Formats: sequence, C-alpha cells, structure tokens
Amino acid sequence: MSYYQIKSLEQYFKHYNKSIREPRKFWDKIADENFTWYQKWDKVVEFDMQEAEVKWFLNAKVNITKNCIDRHLAKRGEKTAIIFEPNNPDEEAQHITYNELYERVTKMANVLRDQGVKKGDRVCIYLPMIPELAITVLACARIGAVHSVIFAGFSASAVTSRVLDLQCKLVVTSDGGFRGNKTIDLKGIIDEALEKCPCVEKTLVVKRTNSKVNMKEDRDYWLQPLLDSAPSNNVAEIMDAEDPLFILYTSGSTGKPKGMMHTTAGYMVYSAYTFKNIFNYEENDVYWCTADIGWITGHSYIVYGPLLNGATTVIFEGVPSYPDFGRFWEIIDKHKVTQFYTAPTAIRSLAKENWEWVDKYNLSSLKIIGSVGEPINEEAWHWYNDHVGKKKSPIVDTWWQTETGGIMISPIPFVTPTKPTYATLPLPGVQPVLMDERRNEIEDNQVVGSLCIKFPWPGMARTIWGDHQRFKETYFTAFPGKYFTGDGALRDEVGYYRITGRVDDVVIVSGHNLGTAPIEDAINEHPAVAESAIVGFPHDVKGNALYGFITLKESGEDRNRDNLRKEINEHISSHIGPIAKLDKIQFVSGLPKTRSGKIMRRILRKIAEGEFTNFGDTTTLLNPEIVDEIKNERI
Ligand code: WT7
Repeated sequence: MSYYQIKSLEQYFKHYNKSIREPRKFWDKIADENFTWYQKWDKVVEFDMQEAEVKWFLNAKVNITKNCIDRHLAKRGEKTAIIFEPNNPDEEAQHITYNELYERVTKMANVLRDQGVKKGDRVCIYLPMIPELAITVLACARIGAVHSVIFAGFSASAVTSRVLDLQCKLVVTSDGGFRGNKTIDLKGIIDEALEKCPCVEKTLVVKRTNSKVNMKEDRDYWLQPLLDSAPSNNVAEIMDAEDPLFILYTSGSTGKPKGMMHTTAGYMVYSAYTFKNIFNYEENDVYWCTADIGWITGHSYIVYGPLLNGATTVIFEGVPSYPDFGRFWEIIDKHKVTQFYTAPTAIRSLAKENWEWVDKYNLSSLKIIGSVGEPINEEAWHWYNDHVGKKKSPIVDTWWQTETGGIMISPIPFVTPTKPTYATLPLPGVQPVLMDERRNEIEDNQVVGSLCIKFPWPGMARTIWGDHQRFKETYFTAFPGKYFTGDGALRDEVGYYRITGRVDDVVIVSGHNLGTAPIEDAINEHPAVAESAIVGFPHDVKGNALYGFITLKESGEDRNRDNLRKEINEHISSHIGPIAKLDKIQFVSGLPKTRSGKIMRRILRKIAEGEFTNFGDTTTLLNPEIVDEIKNERI
C-alpha cells in the first residue's frame, strides 16, 4: 500500500501537487497497488466534462466484494469485520469475522441468484441497520446486481417512486425495525408501496422484530429458510470497471429525486483511498460511523471503505438518545472505538444535554473524530473537540456529497492543522475551484464563490438513472467544463475551504438533504391548498428547519388553521417522511412573484430567518405589497 497514509504536511503538498500535475499517473498507481483485479485497465481515465461523460480504469475487470472480503481471508479470516450493536443495550452485540462474512455474503448471493436476480438487475433494499443490510448490499455486488438502499425512514410513496424508477424485480425487507422505544412496521410500508409496483415479483423478508406481518402468497418469502439451504460457494461475477454498482437517491431542487448511479472500479478505488487517509486506519482499530447505510455516508464509510481496508466496522441499530443520552459514549467505551464519525445534528442534539453524559464514560480509545453532512457551527465544533475529542483527537470535518462518492475536502488527521468550521484542504487527486458570478475562476485567497471541481475523480457519479440529460444540466452546465457542486464556499488566506451551504433550493435538515420542490408538490395535493413555498431557517438542533408559506383555495378559507397545519404535516409525513415535516406554517394571501411567475424565494428565506431588510433587488416583483403582509404576520 503506497499512496496511502500521508504522514506530514510536506508529504501532503508533495502528493497534492503531483496529483494535479499528473492525475493519471497518480490514480494509476493507487489502483494498481492496493486492489486485486481480474484484469487491469487499458487507460486510466477518459472524459468529456461538457457532455458529462466520465469513465475510469477502462476495460478493467474486478469484483468489489473480492476486495472487501476474499483477499483478507488469509491474513484476517478470524478478525472481526462487523460489530453489530443492537438498539437495545440488553441485547448482546454480535461480532462477525471476515470468514463468517464470506459465508453469509456468498449464501445470500446464492439466494438472490436462485430467486432469478441477474447481473444488471436492480434490487431494492429496505432494511433497518442490522448486519443483513450490509450483507445484502455485498451479496448484490457479488453477483453484479445493482443495489439501491432506501432509507427505512422513508414513506410508502417514496418507496413506490424509487422502485418504479428502477423497475426492481426484487425487494429485501424485514418484518420490522427497532428504533429507540419504537418498533417500525417496515413490511407494512413495503406492502403499501408495492401495491403500485407491478414490476416487483418477489420480496425476501428478514425476521428482526417477530412482529406479525402479512405474507403475500407467491411474492413474499422468509429469508432464513432460503439461506439455510443455500451453498456458500464463490459466485463472484466478473464486472467491468464501469458496470453500475449502486443507485442512491438524493433530492433535487426541482422534480423527483435523482437516482445517482455509481460504477464499480472508480468507486472502489475512491472509497478505499479516502477511508485510509482520512481515518488513518491501523490494523487493530475499531471504527464507527453512526450514519445509516441508506445514505451515501453509510455506503462509503460503514460498508465499502472500511471493508476494502480490512477494518473492523461498527453497525449501530439505534439512536443517540435511547435508552439515554449516553448511548453513543457508552458504545465507544464498550467496543473501544478508535475512530468515530457522526453528523453535526447529532452533535448539537447531544451538546444540549448535560456533558456529564459524556464524562461518565471512558473515551480514551478515541484517536480521530469526524463530522459530515452539513456545515458544523463553531459552538458544536468546540463542544465536540472539548468533550469528545478531549482536545487531543483531531476533528476531521469532511465535505462531500452523494454525487462525489467519497470525501473530497477534509483535514488529514495529525497532518492538516484543523480550524473550526473549515473542511480545510482537498485530498490529493481533488481539484476544487471557486467561480464568480461571471463564471470565471477566482484564483485569489480570502474570497467566496461557487464551488466546482475541475478535473474528474474516480468516485464521481456517472449519471442520473434514466436521465443523463438532467445529470448534465444539473452538474455540468452552470460552469461549462466543470462539475458544479451546488455549494458556495469561502477560501481563507491559507487556502482552507469553508463550505457555506447550498446555493439552490435544497435545505439540509438534521443532516438530511431535502429538496423543497417535492415537499411543495406534496403540500399542494392537499385539497385546501392553492400554492406553497418552502424555505429553510436556522434551527438550534437540526441545523435548519422548514418554514412553509401557503396560500389557500377559496374552499379552504374557513377551515380551522391549526387543523390544517396538522393535516398538511401528516400528508408530508406519509408522502415523503417525517423528516420533511414543517416546523412553521404561515398562511398568506399571496406569494411574492416575479413577472414570469417565479416565486422569489430569497425574500421568503430572509423573512423566515427573521431578517426584514436587505431583500436585494425587488424591482422585478409583480406584487411587492404582499411582502409587508408576510412580514407582519410572520410566526
Ligand atoms: C451536501 C451533500 C456527504 C454525505 C452526507 C450528505 C453538505 C456535507 C459537509 C461539510 C459543510 C457539508 C453540502 C453538500 N455537506 N458535508 N463537512 N461541511 N457542508 O450527502 O445528502 O448528498 O448532501 O451536504 O451542502 O453539498 P448529501
């Protein structure tokens, strides 16, 4: 393993500069020295950024699970690959070795194959955070099926739209899931979702809660009996470098969620390389990322990145507040966790509680602590640094996206001096640039601009499933020849980046990336609602919360406002999920619009934030008088 583990700032700059001067050589070496291939590539990269066409490691042949599991068996067969920590602390934790992981993944792969799943078929996975989730993901990759994990907090209609978009034949789910003191009826949600999905022929059901569920004849099968009779032979499919590995949905500012498609070899190289460098993983470490595998963070930094490095990775089923606010810290103490990776929203919610919850436990095993998902505010950064990191474990504030596949900008622990709220420097191989309003690259430091990446990297998404045109328009059109992240950023005097947030109509609530458009669509379906506009506003714990401005139809005018608020939130909850519920709903007689009919969201955003001046240019408003009304009646 060569280009792994940068040890000094000097080495960082050396690698970085080399990666810019000779990117092909840089990635060629990393891919060559750290993985097992059936066949190596003819060419490292081929791309046309104007057309959003990117390919890495052309014509190479590989199976990512051989790299995650098989190649470790000789040296690490009896090493723990996965520690499963259940929701309920009284239930015993499970330790799954690499040998056992091999056995369980290959059995599951055989089951999927027996059920008719073939290379290229899409499999939807709707499971709680249990080992079967990671195992099913790997089993799909083993046989070349494209996995699409749907976060188990999503509602039936969100599942329906994803399953239909993918035309899945098979769904893997469970009889339910435990989350804190609740039991979630996942099978019931799947049953409802699949009523509208004729493409699904089979569902395999994991037993977790022993809840009574409805099993539809000739469609639903309990998984365990099938596993019991499946062989654990190899069945690894030989995949082309650019064969799809998975599809994961992320919100957009307009229209339906985007199915981001990642391919095999580039994603493998990138998730492994970033994991090794950012978490500085050493052989006996126990690494824990608290994200859900339903998000990209869980894909890259619970499953693939750690396993590609032969690491021990923790899967936690529960929530930070159950049975009490010490749960995270108890787990770190119990399993002697060395790297801990979580989100600002979790940090803020725990920082609100007494810090004695943290100090009760021994956290001296920790070496590195990380943050991901949204900008971490200064207060939360210091709390994390003082109480969890004890001022000795560096915080890696990692900036990246579902689309980037892996971490792009982050300190390298013990190498890059950290600075609160700054993601700091790009990893070697990553070329960020800031662009001004005239679409020119800004070369100076101490500037703000739109964050773009000017050279491809192996982990980048290749397309939006079924809609390459949208992929191109969303990411490659605003700044021709570059990938546009949708984020704004500041670069300080030494070249450190601080991500300031989205520049479009996406709001990050509790670390969940929510497009406002699908929420507005859901609200507008309510019979009393004429029109709606959603914006984010700062919230102590969630980072942002949602504020809805809603106009009513005449027929809705005499309805009780509180009942309406309740109904609207219930509707959002069942159509998108409880995470998208509105914190504030203001009924207004009109929305500020431009002459072309576009809602001027920046005005609403300012009002929601409680700022009543500096609305910027409002001369193009068709109905300027509405602004005063909305201001005066703000909640
Ligand atoms: C958006 C991507 C990356 C996996 C989880 C979220 C924001 C993410 C940071 C950070 C500031 C951050 C950005 C980005 N974001 N990490 N360290 N500092 N902002 O993935 O749902 O695709 O969201 O999250 O705005 O564009 P995602």
